[in-house]
Amino acid sequence: MTPTWVQLANLLAAVLFIFALKGLSSPKSARNGNLLGAAGAVLATAVLFVSGIPLSNILLILAAVLIGSAIGWISARKVQMTQMPQLVALFNGVGGGAAALVAVIEYLEVGGENKISLAATVFTVVIGSVSFSGSIITFLKLQELMTSRPVIIPAGKWVTMLVAALTVVGAVWLVISPQIWLLVALLVLSLIFGMLFVLPVGGADVPIVISLLNAFTGLSVAASGYVLNNVLLIIAGTLVGASGTLLTKEMAKAMGRPITSTLFGAFNGTTAGNTSTGGDRPVRSGGPNDVAIMLGFANKVILVPGYGLAVAQAQGTLRELADLLTERGVEVDYAIHPVAGRMPGHMNVLLAEASVPYEQLKEMDDINPEFATTDVVLVVGANDVVNPAARTDKSAPIYGMPILNVDQAQQVVFLKRSMRPGFAGIENEILYDQKTMLLFGDAKDSLNKVVSALKNL
Ligand code: TAP
Repeated sequence: MTPTWVQLANLLAAVLFIFALKGLSSPKSARNGNLLGAAGAVLATAVLFVSGIPLSNILLILAAVLIGSAIGWISARKVQMTQMPQLVALFNGVGGGAAALVAVIEYLEVGGENKISLAATVFTVVIGSVSFSGSIITFLKLQELMTSRPVIIPAGKWVTMLVAALTVVGAVWLVISPQIWLLVALLVLSLIFGMLFVLPVGGADVPIVISLLNAFTGLSVAASGYVLNNVLLIIAGTLVGASGTLLTKEMAKAMGRPITSTLFGAFNGTTAGNTSTGGDRPVRSGGPNDVAIMLGFANKVILVPGYGLAVAQAQGTLRELADLLTERGVEVDYAIHPVAGRMPGHMNVLLAEASVPYEQLKEMDDINPEFATTDVVLVVGANDVVNPAARTDKSAPIYGMPILNVDQAQQVVFLKRSMRPGFAGIENEILYDQKTMLLFGDAKDSLNKVVSALKNL
């Protein structure tokens, strides 16, 4: 029987996890939410050591905790903001793999007497392994250790369906008639399925798949909680599973695509496409002084940050520019697209780092009606999220994605380094529009020059 104080401590940890999720739902409270979640995890782990449950191999467990914590600490400190999705993929994969391993060990120790428990064990092995191998492939894609484009294998759809069917049959068979060779075969099949599942997903869709795999890991952890008779694991796993599923849905919605088209797009030949650079079509480029004059004498300016802002780490300089404009009496807002950058909340996190007041950050639906009455839109390292092809070009991979209507403003200025397209790899017609000016260069460098020019106006 678990002592009452241990049950109470576990309850407290579960409550901390729930408050953590609540905190993570807004940029203002996200940092505290994260700390609450970490506190819950530390409490849950610490309680296990002092709860009186007999633990063997305690030194090995402590060594693993220390090594894991050190790796987590160092990698989280070292990672660039733009590399965050691949770090999440890696951590998520490790979580799924750990759940699968725990289930394998439980199988070896307990065997298959209790069929319900065995079914949960087998479920954990399958989903944990799928999550592990799938996450490793997404990590390799995002880290550009392999191509980030869809990998299409011959008859891939049929091979994947066959492996999926064999996995299901193997899982049912293992529950009915437990045998070691079947467990090994199931592990291998699940790992292969995880890879086949993710290989055809490419480009901008990869982060969505990470979120889905995150939900898978949550489910496998919840099932392993059932196997180990650990209520806290069931709660934590269910929270991760549910929030991962909701996040996946939200991201797919923000990109204007059903989740099935993300997952199976490449099988049907409809995924993120060609990389076009527009050839030699003329564009209107300008210098920092031109941009400073346009901004400095405007009544209303909207700033649109995108992935390039994160690459250039130009958030502080953008804030400096916004402050200068506000001092001059210009009305300034930031337009935040839900999938700008490469991870959910990417722009909010960046701008929070530069202490931009939250009131100035406007969500897409709130800011879109304002572009028509705006003098100048300054697009800093964004491309896909302002590309009108999403409205007009049915063949574009971003077709249907709600965008920021910057083309409705009087004038548009783009800060970017070249004519290369954004993540989706498609041309953006606004770059060639007469009301558009391009200031080429690294966003931070360009912003610094515009700020100096503005100070001398
Ligand atoms: P992108 O469309 O990827 O465009 C980024 C732009 O930044 C490019 O035009 C690039 O042009 C420019 N850039 C890069 N480095 C720069 C630098 N140092 N200085 C100045 N400019 C720089 O970005 P976006 O508009 O933010 O769109 C995000 C994309 O990611 C969307 O397709 C979205 O669907 C996808 N996505 C996002 C998420 C989440 S949750 N955020 C998840 C999945 C997919 P140059 O190379 O010419 O400089």
